[in-house]
Amino acid sequence: MSVSFDNRVAVVTGAGSGLGRAHAQVLAARGVKVVVNDLGGNTAGEGGSTRAADDVVKSIVDAGGEAVANYDSVASLEGGQNIVKTAIDNFGGVDIVINNAGNVRDKSFAKMDLDNFTAIMDVHLMGAVYVTKAAWPLMLENKFGRVVMTSSSAGLFGSHGHTNYGSAKISLIGFMNALIQEGSKKNVLVNSIAPMALTRMTEEVMSPKLAPMMQPEFVSAMVAFLCSDECDLSGQIVECGMGYYSKVQIVEGAGVLLGGGEVPSPEEVQANWGAISDMSEAKTYRHAGQVIRSVFNKMKEEGVLSKQ
Ligand code: NAI
Repeated sequence: MSVSFDNRVAVVTGAGSGLGRAHAQVLAARGVKVVVNDLGGNTAGEGGSTRAADDVVKSIVDAGGEAVANYDSVASLEGGQNIVKTAIDNFGGVDIVINNAGNVRDKSFAKMDLDNFTAIMDVHLMGAVYVTKAAWPLMLENKFGRVVMTSSSAGLFGSHGHTNYGSAKISLIGFMNALIQEGSKKNVLVNSIAPMALTRMTEEVMSPKLAPMMQPEFVSAMVAFLCSDECDLSGQIVECGMGYYSKVQIVEGAGVLLGGGEVPSPEEVQANWGAISDMSEAKTYRHAGQVIRSVFNKMKEEGVLSKQ
């Protein structure tokens, strides 16, 4: 088994600190040329400085790797284009995009100013869209691409005060699920992580004692594998951190047909909630078309389709 990178170029967004810094350093140590993107603001995404990205570039170059800084915000079309242009101008292309940049503006939904909702969507979802959009045609043309989305258990499973953040993070899964349909045949693979690490973003809710166990590098090991030449996975969601790695999947139960071809009453729906919610035969689907095909098959089996 090996994890290798054949003369690859990576863009890592939000690589000035935390997880992004670790991803950039781990890839660079394996010979990947890296664009270290970061606008250098605070955790809310406000302010800006070239220092964060510059320091990471210096750490990579000092260790014998190749890296260049970019200070654009991911949250604009021009920013996304310029980040990818930095890779093309300096390293001749882009093979790997790690959509990692992120900000937080936590508040209960009742108290949340909606500007703080859109600010989160703009960075996490649209930032990933803008950067991926700029790199995607090159990856399709080269028949090689690795994209990693940084989701979160806050989006996959929910978290108090995170309506904005959770919405953005689960949206990335929808973005990935559609992208994999378009990229897989051209070896452009897209996967998502839901990381757990002690960074400036999580230091308020986690004890510093956890620092050795919660190093971002635990997450970067998974990211490096997902971006490697050998990886042939696409559409995976992986919860990772602290040495724990686990696939997360959206599944659908076997379901039940109600009404025998007629619209069932709400009472019939209510009475059948047990069967509707039975997950004992739950399975996943590779694309949306398979869901409707499976329903048609069930209708055929139960003789409902022939009545239409
Ligand atoms: P961090 O705050 O250390 O790193 C985020 C980086 O993104 C910062 O350097 C920041 O300047 C940069 N950034 C923010 N807005 C940007 C923009 N518009 N354009 C370019 N760069 C921008 O936090 P951390 O923990 O390293 O977060 C990295 C990613 O992982 C984020 O997407 C976060 O939501 C996600 N995540 C982190 C978890 C954790 O346990 N640390 C848990 C789940 C998700």
